[in-house]
Parts: sequence; structure tokens; C-alpha cells
Amino acid sequence: MTPSTQIPPWQTQGDQKREAVRDMFADIAPTYDLANSIMSARGHYRWREEACTLINLQPGDSVLDLCCGTGDFLQAARKRVGIQGHLVGLDYCGPMLDVAAKKLDPETQLTLGDATFLPFANEQFNAVTVGWGLRNVPDLKATLTEVFRVLKTGGRFISVDMSQPTGPIAPISRWAYHISVPLLGRILRQPEAYAYLPKSTEKFVSREELKAAFEAAGFKNVQFKSRFFGNIALHWGIKQ
Ligand SMILES: C[S@@+](CC[C@H](N)C(=O)[O-])C[C@H]1O[C@@H](n2cnc3c(N)ncnc32)[C@H](O)[C@@H]1O
Repeated sequence: MTPSTQIPPWQTQGDQKREAVRDMFADIAPTYDLANSIMSARGHYRWREEACTLINLQPGDSVLDLCCGTGDFLQAARKRVGIQGHLVGLDYCGPMLDVAAKKLDPETQLTLGDATFLPFANEQFNAVTVGWGLRNVPDLKATLTEVFRVLKTGGRFISVDMSQPTGPIAPISRWAYHISVPLLGRILRQPEAYAYLPKSTEKFVSREELKAAFEAAGFKNVQFKSRFFGNIALHWGIKQ
């Protein structure tokens, strides 16, 4: 259990969730990348690349990666924005940022901060990315409002996250996911953290609700697509 709350992180809300989720990621930081590659059959790299294409990252762009964790989205973005681009990663979990710092080029700026109140001025970035982050924040609406605020007019935003599969294969896909991910957690001796993944996905908004939340925050041309048998969703929109 999370020491600060004694409540499993998927049952927490608000400030309790903020703390419980941070403690959980601090515990799993050293094995996060390995587990990600096993669970997605290395698909997570492809989905971030696809996300960079969908929001048309260009050489020289200034990009914020929210909930940047161990920095894989920043690595994908660097390939697009080049060395003249400005990359900032923000996360509130020091041990995840420590892993990122070892992987990233020294020009990439890493900031310890909270996604629900960003330490940046208005209209600073050409694009904001977030990978597997929105499901974890304690206040989705506040986070989307902050993303909208820090984007320049014409700026693009994309999220890649878990989603609930729909359609005929959904029950099989859901069953496989609920068995395999906790099993991996037991192998890695972090059962709570990997129980969190399917449970938090169940509690997260649907694809349609997330699209509506983007629109409520002010984004236009909001679209989404599914990957990995519906277990992954990419949502993107523009600040006009
Ligand atoms: C599942 S990891 C994703 C890491 C990375 N984006 C990726 O693509 O692999 C979620 C990250 O979100 C961070 N996070 C969760 N809530 C946050 C918040 N309120 N503010 C900042 N970071 C947060 C966690 O510390 C963790 O590093």
C-alpha cells in the first residue's frame, strides 16, 4: 500500500491521488521502461512516433511534454524538432526525472512540477504532448485548461493513453489485460503498481468523454484514434 494513505492509488482522488500516484511512480521508476516495452510489445515507441506525426512537429518547434516520466516522448520529439527546437519535460516525480536525465540530450530541459498548475507563462509552446499522463492527474479539467493556456495560437496538443476496448473483441482483450498486467507486476515484485494500470483505465473517461473534455477546454478539430485492439487511444486538437 502507499505509505502516505494506506489506500490503493486507484481508489484515491484529489490531493490523495496526487501523492499516491507520485509515490507509486517513485517506486517503479527503475523498471518502468522495461515493463512498458514488455506490456506493449514495444508498441509504445511507435505510438509516440505516430503522435509526433499527427501533430506535425516541425524543426525548431518549442514543445512541452507533460508527465514526461523517463523521457521517451522527448526523445521522439527531438528527432522531429532538431537541435534548434526547444524541448521541456515536466513531471512531479523526481525518480522518474532522474531516469530521464540519464537518457536525454543536455539541451532538453527537465522541470519538477505539477501538470495541474504549470510553471510557464501563457502562449509559450508550439505543441504539448502527454503520454499515459492524463489518466493519472488528480484534476483532468485543470490540466487541460493549463495546456490550453501555455500553447500559442495554432498550437497542437496530443495525448496517448490507455483506453477501454470496445466492439466484439473487447471482453477478450480486457480479460487478457487484467490477467497479464498484474502477473507482470508480481514478476517485477510491484503488484500494486501494475494492478493500478487496468484499474485506473477502467475509471478513466471514455474516448468520447476525453474528446468532449478537450473541446470544453477550448480545443478545436479534436480527433481520436485507437491502437492495440482498442487498449490505446490517441487524442489530439488545436488551439485556434
Ligand atoms: C505512466 S507514466 C508516463 C511517462 C511518460 N510520459 C511515457 O510516455 O512513458 C506517468 C507519469 O505521469 C507523472 N504524473 C502523474 N501525475 C502528475 C502530475 N499531477 N503532475 C506531473 N506529473 C504527473 C508520473 O510521475 C509519471 O512519471
